[in-house]
Amino acid sequence: MAKSYPKSSFVGIDKEDCFPASNPGNCVFQIVDLLKGLPFKDNTFDYVYSRGMYYYFSFVEWQQVVEELRRVTKPGGYVELVETGPLFNNLGPYSSKFQNACATLIQAVGGDVYIPEKLGDYLAGFDDLTTDYASSPIGWKGRIGQLNLQNMELSYTAHKLRLCNYMRWTEEEYEVINEQGLAE
Ligand SMILES: C[S@@+](CC[C@H](N)C(=O)[O-])C[C@H]1O[C@@H](n2cnc3c(N)ncnc32)[C@H](O)[C@@H]1O
Repeated sequence: MAKSYPKSSFVGIDKEDCFPASNPGNCVFQIVDLLKGLPFKDNTFDYVYSRGMYYYFSFVEWQQVVEELRRVTKPGGYVELVETGPLFNNLGPYSSKFQNACATLIQAVGGDVYIPEKLGDYLAGFDDLTTDYASSPIGWKGRIGQLNLQNMELSYTAHKLRLCNYMRWTEEEYEVINEQGLAE
């Protein structure tokens, strides 16, 4: 986005130092725990975007987070949330194992596995609310399926530590689930 809009300035946050190594020059990155509040004044941003956070927040925390996103957005600005869910159709045994572990972990933190269908509820009270829901192929149906498969691969890697700790899986067990799950 920063590359597409070189005249705009962007601020990216994460609670971990996992930021991109390259920077088109109009981005700053800050380590921030969203649950502790954003270090920005009210009405700072024209556009606020959040993606891929379903794993981390309970429904109550989401309400707190959305309120914080609203606070830092200028009147007339936009807040956009994008979430994929952990539930997929027609899974094989290994990918089911991965999915069930993700769902268990999400529910353990009070999270909602049906979040993609309900994102609009999280933004209740915003003006001009629009929502969209799409179901998408993984590994089939051309480029979109390939991109989803790549995303799935990254997801297996990204969630490894948390899932192994929570499910008490060894690294070797996880590698089998990862490999077989992606093959399925
Ligand atoms: C699945 S990744 C998504 C990253 C990015 N938004 C994207 O779409 O590529 C979730 C990220 O949320 C971060 N995270 C989790 N809890 C957070 C919090 N309380 N405050 C800020 N970042 C948090 C994690 O460190 C992780 O990098």
